[in-house]
Amino acid sequence: MSSRPRPRLLLVGGGGGFVGRALVRELAVDHSIRSLHRHASTEERSAGVEWVETDLGGKVDWDQRLRDVDAVVNVAWYRSGSEARFRVLYEGLERMLAASVRAGVARLIQVSVPEAPDSLETTLPYLVYKRRFDHSVERSGLSYAVLRPSALFGVGDKLLGVMMRSIHRYPFFPMFGDGACTLSPIAVTDLARVVREALDSSESGRYDLGGPIVYRYSELTDAMFAALGKRPRYWRLSARGSLRLASLLEAVGSSLLYRYEVEWLLSGRLGLPPAALRGRGLERLEPYLRAVAMELRGDRSPAGAAPPTLR
Ligand SMILES: NC(=O)c1ccc[n+]([C@@H]2O[C@H](COP(=O)([O-])OP(=O)(O)OC[C@H]3O[C@@H](n4cnc5c(N)ncnc54)[C@H](OP(=O)(O)O)[C@@H]3O)[C@@H](O)[C@H]2O)c1
Repeated sequence: MSSRPRPRLLLVGGGGGFVGRALVRELAVDHSIRSLHRHASTEERSAGVEWVETDLGGKVDWDQRLRDVDAVVNVAWYRSGSEARFRVLYEGLERMLAASVRAGVARLIQVSVPEAPDSLETTLPYLVYKRRFDHSVERSGLSYAVLRPSALFGVGDKLLGVMMRSIHRYPFFPMFGDGACTLSPIAVTDLARVVREALDSSESGRYDLGGPIVYRYSELTDAMFAALGKRPRYWRLSARGSLRLASLLEAVGSSLLYRYEVEWLLSGRLGLPPAALRGRGLERLEPYLRAVAMELRGDRSPAGAAPPTLR
């Protein structure tokens, strides 16, 4: 009787969102996945993922959730919220980490964010608690990788796709400062491949991950106008005016863009060098922009086929 080794069991924390969906597509083919988050996902169900409804900040029987788990991947975080909201989730993640140490999991991957300006690192609950958890992972004694991708692109992203929709919809697009700050977006599918490689590695460390090209912000927005077949038309704002605009959007309850995101962007710290990946190279942004543009314009290809599928 053949006894094939069982697939590696991954516990994924917070995999219900944009990155989580990419992880399922990349990893469900040859891993068992136990996914912990609050809202059911059809994608996970159809990929045969074991979803256990869990608020990671709440009371969780971690010893049970971690039973037979070989590796943990954490992607849970919020994009905005109060100090208490971040603290509660952070405290829950600390309990998950302590239980992972007790259970002796072989590997822990934490998806984090690149360095931000000091003013944000030291005061913004989003970053203060994120860093506390990153540091706890680094000091845990587990074999780990802390992955810090630049802005991610892919279906359902919250930056580039949103910018494309705004450019499509409105006659002018805001140009933040002189447009010289740098940004190197990386595909969410590439981040998922990095996670796979990090799971297979035994090296511990912190990795900043950029996409294949470091753009000036204005080059990026020009490329978006070009993909949409429009002439670039900007509403030019000083750095301070850009921050004021973001504050105003926040004040009226919009989640389009947060003030801290503009400050981070203007700092140029999102222009990270390309991530190192084995095998095929990193995905370029332009095909994604073209696919989004076709979708927004409802275009068909000349042969009448549907636009390229966005993954
Ligand atoms: N998006 C980017 O451009 C980007 C760039 C760099 C780094 N990152 C990092 O990548 C990670 C994932 O980002 P994302 O864009 O995928 O965010 P997302 O779409 O908002 O997904 C985050 C997921 O975390 C889960 N979650 C949040 N609070 C939870 C809680 N208390 N208990 C259980 N699950 C919880 C949510 O699932 P439920 O609602 O089902 O609970 C949500 O679907 C984050 O750590 C983020 O900082 C993202």
